[in-house]
Amino acid sequence: MLRLELDNLSSQRIGPQGLDWESALAAHAPLLEAARQALWQRKADPGQFLGWIEVPEDTETLRQVRRFRETQDWVEALVVLGIGGSALGAQAVAAALGRGPVRLHFVDNVEPEPILELLRTLEPSKTLVNVISKSGATAETMAAFLVFRQWLEEGTVNWKKHVVVTTDPAKGLLRPYAQAEGLASFAVPPAVGGRFSVTCPVGTLPLAFAGVDLESFLAGARKANEQAQGPLSHNLPAQTALVHHLFAQKGKNIVVFMPYSTRLRYLPDWFVQLHDESLGKARDRQGREVRTGTTAVRAIGTTDQHAQVQLFREGPHDKLIQFVRLLAPSEDLKIPAVMGLEGLDYLFGRSFFELLEAEAKATAHALAKAGQPNYTLTLEKLDAYHLGWLLQHLMWQTAFLGELWNINAFDQPGVELGKEYTYALMGRKGYEELARRLRAEGV
Ligand code: PA5
Repeated sequence: MLRLELDNLSSQRIGPQGLDWESALAAHAPLLEAARQALWQRKADPGQFLGWIEVPEDTETLRQVRRFRETQDWVEALVVLGIGGSALGAQAVAAALGRGPVRLHFVDNVEPEPILELLRTLEPSKTLVNVISKSGATAETMAAFLVFRQWLEEGTVNWKKHVVVTTDPAKGLLRPYAQAEGLASFAVPPAVGGRFSVTCPVGTLPLAFAGVDLESFLAGARKANEQAQGPLSHNLPAQTALVHHLFAQKGKNIVVFMPYSTRLRYLPDWFVQLHDESLGKARDRQGREVRTGTTAVRAIGTTDQHAQVQLFREGPHDKLIQFVRLLAPSEDLKIPAVMGLEGLDYLFGRSFFELLEAEAKATAHALAKAGQPNYTLTLEKLDAYHLGWLLQHLMWQTAFLGELWNINAFDQPGVELGKEYTYALMGRKGYEELARRLRAEGV
């Protein structure tokens, strides 16, 4: 079960900035209903990039992913070469649920030292490299692939056995290369953008090697779909989108995403990318300048209670804080009593999970008392089903916000521009004119 706790958004808790949730929901019901209908109607059009809605239904691709995993029983290390949406989802879920024996490594930067360090620790004959790039062009991923391909060629009998490609079914440089070389490959559905791709082979292939229960993961994502097309009273993503919308209107320009879990430590990275890249837009759907977006910020409880929470409580009233909390541990740890340390007797015999819960509740309340709005999504437990549900919920939340703000949440012109400038600076063919302009601008 995924539940929403909204008490710390009410005026009784946070004062004049607060909401009367029931009446806000009723007042915005027509707007949310229009957003829901627009999304469900547009999903048949591949150009709208709503393919992520139906991917969790695709059991045939999941079967192929699982079959591929089963045939690769020699793999001891899987190296994912990908960046942004092509890495962060699998990384977040693998950190939360991965149970080996295959070790996963993510190469999502081009800093030479860590890559060299990784290459020194890996045994090529036991390593599978999954190069993931929807566009089949991104410089960071392609550079890493060139290095790993050569490393495999030099270190193995047949390097081709050690590479699996995940890319667009038709576009980009990787697809024809995979075909020409006879490399194993999977497709990123054309209607699925990078940051919405965790339930397709971009996410599921690495997660199969991480030992994640993918059937449950996709079943959880389907549960979010069910809610997103249900009545408003049960439509959790429409409701959380409305919370973000209303507090953005109240000047809360920062969204803190803060799970109380070390296992969920990479989830904020995935969320930040999803939220910021989707919703930070200069223009609306009609091309008018709008400059939308709220800035998502990472935090982890309880760790960041001893860092950012000082600012969240006493700093500017410009934040909405989104907590994620687990309702039960999968195993717990009892705190022992120690003679001579009776000053700690409030901890004796209690469990770590009890302490974690108390810390989360205490922090949420302390923030509310300072007038800082916060809400909590609770997961019954941390397993594949609930994580699949949570991720798809957050994708829906983002899509709903895109509708409420009348922007295209599925493109990323700012990111693409950065890629093109890089191509130009690195001398890629076809970018000579752009390179000349950049030089003239002093770059
Ligand atoms: O969400 C997105 O679309 C981006 O973050 C991409 O995932 C990222 O730029 C990598 O692109 P590609 O998969 O084409 O290499």
